[in-house]
Amino acid sequence: MPQTSMRTRVAIIGAGPAGLLLGHLLHRAGIDTVILEDCSRDHVEARIRAGVLEQGTVDLLDEAGVGERMRRQGLVHHGIDLLFDGRRHRIDLSGLTGGRAITVYGQHEVVRDLICARLAACAPQYFEAGDVRLHGIDGQSPSVSFTHAGQAHVLHCDFIAGCDGSHGVSRHAIPPSALQVFERTYPFAWLGILAKAPPAANELIYASHARGFALFSMRSPEITRLYLQCHPDEDLAAWPDDRVWEELHARLETGDGWHLNEGLVLQKGVTPMRSQVTEPMQYGRLFLAGDAAHIVPPTGAKGMNLAVADVRNLAHALAVHYRDQRDDLLAGYSAACLGRVWRAEHFSWWMTSLLHRFDDYTPFMARLQHAELEYVCSSGAAARSLAENYVGLPFAPLAG
Ligand code: APR
Ligand code: PHB
Repeated sequence: MPQTSMRTRVAIIGAGPAGLLLGHLLHRAGIDTVILEDCSRDHVEARIRAGVLEQGTVDLLDEAGVGERMRRQGLVHHGIDLLFDGRRHRIDLSGLTGGRAITVYGQHEVVRDLICARLAACAPQYFEAGDVRLHGIDGQSPSVSFTHAGQAHVLHCDFIAGCDGSHGVSRHAIPPSALQVFERTYPFAWLGILAKAPPAANELIYASHARGFALFSMRSPEITRLYLQCHPDEDLAAWPDDRVWEELHARLETGDGWHLNEGLVLQKGVTPMRSQVTEPMQYGRLFLAGDAAHIVPPTGAKGMNLAVADVRNLAHALAVHYRDQRDDLLAGYSAACLGRVWRAEHFSWWMTSLLHRFDDYTPFMARLQHAELEYVCSSGAAARSLAENYVGLPFAPLAG
């Protein structure tokens, strides 16, 4: 097949939050990019993922001029509840963090806002790009080949940003000997539903229950989001809606008269639980960001927020490269990200361990878990530690 040849400064693989936000920040810095995404636009705009934005994420989206709909439709929450022993305990996120808060706004809404901004800027993005391959990442002239609408293309660039999530191709372009991968899998997953039902509470509820973890969340005043701990290979056919509701009522209600609102189940799926970090997040002219570089279990709602923190660093390092012909920030990109990554990895692992039933749930483990839950809900210091991690630690100042 004959190839057409094109050129950009930064080729971005993946149109998730990481790739789209990087494209947006670079556009604002006057740096050309092309985004290549293997799925359709409809698919990425409808894909249901997490929906909790840290304060820093909200502020960054606002400053970047893509926060208008989020400000209008996002739900600002000042606390969360931990439910155990049949009682709810509120963690006052804002009171414990000097007024910081989280905003509940679906990840796919962020993706929609960023795609709109990119279209408005007439910046190139190819959806349904096939056979994406990276070339020459260890030299001075990298390129990406792909097919689109039956045509083969080669995109020459200065740098490649691998923002193609946990199943992407970018990470695999790096020689395995150049990487260290740290990981942990968990012996459970989350069965999640999206229901057309008004949320019955104003804040999220994380429940530790003898039958397993459950989470009450929401997307809007009309839509409730709910999760149940389940087996990693859970067969959804074994979970008709009635069974899901029965289990949610059992794990989330306490007999005090509060009830979940039921409604039409709009979506049902299983989310696997994994912790993984790839070090370093760079090889030659390829820079990894977001899920392509690290994965967290969803318990602390850190996935998208970490992706945003990465691209904030990467966009700045690239801007300094083009503005000042300085490469020290690009060289320090991985180190600049990994401190925050490991803090979030620890927090997500800790919250997961605090709230789930594990296979080795011995009476000893049960007592330890209970002691930790009691401590978090009775000690100001422990509650503050949860709160400052949950709302997100402030971003480090950008160097240079
Ligand atoms: N070529 C092009 N695009 C690809 C390829 C490929 N070979 N493989 C994957 N992609 C696309 C995916 O279709 C997806 O749209 O890359 C994008 C990666 O986006 P995300 O998975 O959303 O990852 P990221 O942008 O890093 O955002 C992190 O997403 O997975 C959630 O919970 C996670 O909230 C976190 C956030
Ligand atoms: C969600 O609303 O999807 C959600 C909320 C909190 C989490 C994870 C997911 O910790």
